[in-house]
Amino acid sequence: MATTPTYEDRLKDFSWSLAEQELGYRKGDPLNIGWHCSDRLCRQGLADKTALVWEDFSGATKTYTFDDLRVLSNTFAAHLQGLGIQPGERVCLFMDRVPELYLGFLGGLKMGAVVQPLFSAFGADSLWTRLDDAGTTAIVTQRKHVAKVRKLLDKLPQLRHVILVDAGDGPLRERESGLDLHALPRVETFDAHPTGPETPSVLHYTSGTTGQPKGAQHVHYSLISQYLTAKWVLDLRPDDVYWCNADPGWVTGTSYGIIGPWANGVTQVVLDSGFNAEKWYDFMARRGVTVWYSAPTAIRLLMREGSDLVRKHDLSRLRHLCSVGEPLNAEAVVWSQEAFGKPFHDTYWQTETGCMMITNFPGMKVKPGSMGKPFPGITATVLDPNTNLPHEGTGRVGLIAIRPGWPSQIRGYWNNQAGYERKFVNGWYICGDRASIDADGYYWFVGRDDDVINTGGHLVGPFEIESALLEHPAVAESAAVAKPDPVNMEVVKAFVTLKPGIAPDDDLELEIMNFIRKKLSPLAMPQEIEFTDSLPKTRSGKIVRRILRAREFGEPEGDLSTLMSE
Ligand code: WTA
Repeated sequence: MATTPTYEDRLKDFSWSLAEQELGYRKGDPLNIGWHCSDRLCRQGLADKTALVWEDFSGATKTYTFDDLRVLSNTFAAHLQGLGIQPGERVCLFMDRVPELYLGFLGGLKMGAVVQPLFSAFGADSLWTRLDDAGTTAIVTQRKHVAKVRKLLDKLPQLRHVILVDAGDGPLRERESGLDLHALPRVETFDAHPTGPETPSVLHYTSGTTGQPKGAQHVHYSLISQYLTAKWVLDLRPDDVYWCNADPGWVTGTSYGIIGPWANGVTQVVLDSGFNAEKWYDFMARRGVTVWYSAPTAIRLLMREGSDLVRKHDLSRLRHLCSVGEPLNAEAVVWSQEAFGKPFHDTYWQTETGCMMITNFPGMKVKPGSMGKPFPGITATVLDPNTNLPHEGTGRVGLIAIRPGWPSQIRGYWNNQAGYERKFVNGWYICGDRASIDADGYYWFVGRDDDVINTGGHLVGPFEIESALLEHPAVAESAAVAKPDPVNMEVVKAFVTLKPGIAPDDDLELEIMNFIRKKLSPLAMPQEIEFTDSLPKTRSGKIVRRILRAREFGEPEGDLSTLMSE
């Protein structure tokens, strides 16, 4: 039997054209992710293979073959077309993890739309910022979430269609229509829009330090590296049952919860339900999950429940475990070895990179606590922050930087090309994280190089929270920073000065927390609010979050010379 190639084997003569060949793509051909994840596989004899097994919290189940994916995404695409939506228009998917989310994703891409997935947990303000910026013309949602959309219609004149996947016979308002995918006549043939490799595909909003979230613009060519990294790093094989527990509102849930695995023709299972250790193990045992892609916060929550609970379930089919989103602490790797008999393999990447950059390649020695080495075809380094040149020697902390040009690199931020260009220095793409590289070439994460808060793997921008805080009638000034947390790694902490005559108390703290939860999302809600008389500022009056953050982490406060005397 042929042995699986090693990391070193893969490095030799690496070329992305390998993925192009495997996918049967030649330069100049149209390239459409929706078609590749359904029609192509049917043509290759996988029409009757199970593509998706979906289950919700109540145990309701639906199963789809690759032919179902093909036909139902056709049906979805044709319906959008029938509404007059044009290629290039932004179609937002604002749903729980129901099958329509997955089918709509492929269908939207097939008709040439730019698909914009957003977390259904977003409140009206978070939703508005992203729909307004993208100039979104259609939103596909569920009855349970439509109230948040209705609130915004006056402010979103360009949003022509509000499409409900579970409209039933209930009343519909202006601009609303129903799309009952399972009841519509099945569209057997649909000519996918001839998107090219550089045609915009997916628009994911991600938070930065300054300003509102930015729309990371992916293109159909991203498929090439999403396919290959899924195959090699997730180690996907034809008989696998794969589970990615990420929501497609997050890039992990699309790159590796839709595109990568389906482009590989692999069966996916989806559990539309929140975290619950017992439920998760039971789900994996019943569904015979073989490959699992998860995240450190979930792993830490599972660790809390102990390994005895693991042993109560038959997880003998689990073959490979991977993690992404936050630093995977060494203890979690050691624990998974003890509990599952195999380590979690950490992977490092970003919304902007579209696919994994630094990985623990299957078969490569796992050093617990390290993110691994650059994927073949990825040239990475750490830059000296003073010179922006690669550090010489090993073990020195610098800025993680990647040589541009990999297939799934975003092509820009929506409406913000200047912001995108600022991400490049001396011919390197700067990730905004700090790390060091050891003598064996392994990368060790140190921290972010900005004020973005990573809570449970989700990036939350301080500016978005601060702007929302200022809308509360009692708040005069605010700063949002990360506070260390044993499970979520970081949570949001807000510092607030109140308007004259308003006195802080516990009720006000709770009220402000809920205000943010509703406006933005549960993730963005501060877990703690510290009322203060003043905030540290520069002489020009800019609030300095760095100092507040350093205090939370017990770190040195750095150079205070430009500060106004407090
Ligand atoms: C962080 C997620 C440490 C990092 C796919 C990065 C990580 C940001 C890791 C991107 C990891 C992601 N170890 N930190 N293995 N993976 N991060 O855009 O700060 O939501 O820049 O994409 O998450 O988050 P994003």
